[in-house]
Amino acid sequence: MTNGGDLESYEGPEKYKNPPLPTICVPTTAGTGSETTAMTVITVKSRNYKMTILGKSMLPSVALLDPSIFSKMPPFIAASTGMDALTHAIESYINLASNSFTNAFAVEAIRLIGKYLRHFVAQASDLEAATGMLVASNLAGIAFDISRLGNCHAMAHPLGGFFDVPHGVANSILLPHVMKFNMLADQGKYKVIAQLLGEDVSRMTDLEAAPLAVEAVEKLSRDIGIPENLGLYGVTEDKIPEMSKDAMLSGNIKINPRVTKIADIEALYRAALK
Ligand SMILES: [Fe+2]
Repeated sequence: MTNGGDLESYEGPEKYKNPPLPTICVPTTAGTGSETTAMTVITVKSRNYKMTILGKSMLPSVALLDPSIFSKMPPFIAASTGMDALTHAIESYINLASNSFTNAFAVEAIRLIGKYLRHFVAQASDLEAATGMLVASNLAGIAFDISRLGNCHAMAHPLGGFFDVPHGVANSILLPHVMKFNMLADQGKYKVIAQLLGEDVSRMTDLEAAPLAVEAVEKLSRDIGIPENLGLYGVTEDKIPEMSKDAMLSGNIKINPRVTKIADIEALYRAALK
């Protein structure tokens, strides 16, 4: 509205001169956290690509969180968008750019999602569960707006671009695989995630408890009806090299807690395929 030109010329950080108009955002899913982030993701159909536009002045002026808006949300939308919020919180918590401030938001988001996502999927009109999820997605948004994300989001965007896999579904299917890959980097944080998601890890060492974080995420996904693999969405092996190249362009790869090469991304896509 204030800068002209076409949308693709805004791709990347701070690619515009004039500040945008003020925005008042009302989230209609408990997932993206967009109401509190300074970025937007747009699908460019002509190149099967999801581009990111970001700029500090894009941060919404006001966010209105109204949980009653979710009362008629279909369970699968509640499930997949809720898993997107969980992915934001976990990736923000374990990545290299995390700090005590972002961790405080991310940890509380994981706890709320562990407590409320199942109830929310069962009954989106349950105001306590809806409020819990809405606050969780907002907190996760605050965390990742500062710390950014990791391999999971880098890999989810090409799946949306090439195969129209919904963002939340792509993240939900990839998350356990990426978590297994990253477990090497910080077992202490994995133990915290396991505990926040309801696992009893009190008598375990970090090393013993870490795999339970992945199991807890898998259990949650299963319980709320997330499909188990990407093959169910028509994703085919022949596109893995191209998708992996696109994923490597994401800035999220560089802050992923375990050093990641293109061969790792290809292997992660393959693992999630069936
Ligand atoms: Fe996301």
